Amino acid sequence: MTSTIEAVAALVGDAKRIVVFTGAGISAESGIPTFRDPLTGIWARHDPEKLETASAFREDAALVWGWYLWRRVQVAQAAPNAAHQAIAQLARTREVTVVTQNIDDLHERAGSADVIHLHGSLAQPKCFACHRTPAALFFEEPIASEGLRIEPPRCPRCNGKLRPGVVWFGEDLPAVAWKRSVLAARDCDVLLSIGTSGVVFPAAEIPIMALHAGAYVVHINPAQVAQPSSRELCLIGRATEHVPALVSLMMLTDMLPS
Ligand code: APR
Repeated sequence: MTSTIEAVAALVGDAKRIVVFTGAGISAESGIPTFRDPLTGIWARHDPEKLETASAFREDAALVWGWYLWRRVQVAQAAPNAAHQAIAQLARTREVTVVTQNIDDLHERAGSADVIHLHGSLAQPKCFACHRTPAALFFEEPIASEGLRIEPPRCPRCNGKLRPGVVWFGEDLPAVAWKRSVLAARDCDVLLSIGTSGVVFPAAEIPIMALHAGAYVVHINPAQVAQPSSRELCLIGRATEHVPALVSLMMLTDMLPS
């Protein structure tokens, strides 16, 4: 009787093109809170409408900017975990496209190259007025604690307020990132969906597109986020439990004569 992880290792082992689609859950074990987990999620303490929208920024730019600075400090203090590292290791032997909903840089710091950020990135503020991204962050970032109101710096080109370079509720996803993600999803043999509740669209469409295009989709999550079917499998558990185990199993079979 083949276990699910052995079946997944065989699928990934045979795959030519793999998409790794990640959500906040993959960074949870690096100490970065998710959004919707009932007790530990960020939204247990904050109303996203008050912090993650353009109107919130218009209303109180200092509150929003201060909150994102606090999140940048959290990310800077976090380290990539074994799941991030296993994904980078997988890409050394196969064509892997990482598509993430996360705005942290833990995939990059684990060694993944060319990560597609569907919801933008904390690392790249942009101007709220002219939308340009300053070439270099030229201001001394105060170390923020949660809830501090900090006036955002000004754009060197038009003197508009800088805003976080992330996608807020009601905003479109970056066009190039979306197009690349759709192409990768439609072209892959296996899509690993790791640490996402799959409730925020259009990003949550990516695994669905892969499935409809004939790929296998594997959900790695402590929660049962999908009903298994002929081409959809679930590895119930934490990302750092299953992803390293999956990659090690694959490396083992790679080494064995086929
Ligand atoms: N390993 C794997 N998955 C985990 C772990 C873990 N250690 N811990 C929690 N999870 C799972 C939870 O069970 C949940 O399904 O991670 C998922 C986190 O879901 P959300 O908090 O909804 O985060 P995400 O799916 O990334 O949200 C999508 O919503 O608020 C917006 O822009 C934000 O990008 C975010 C988007």
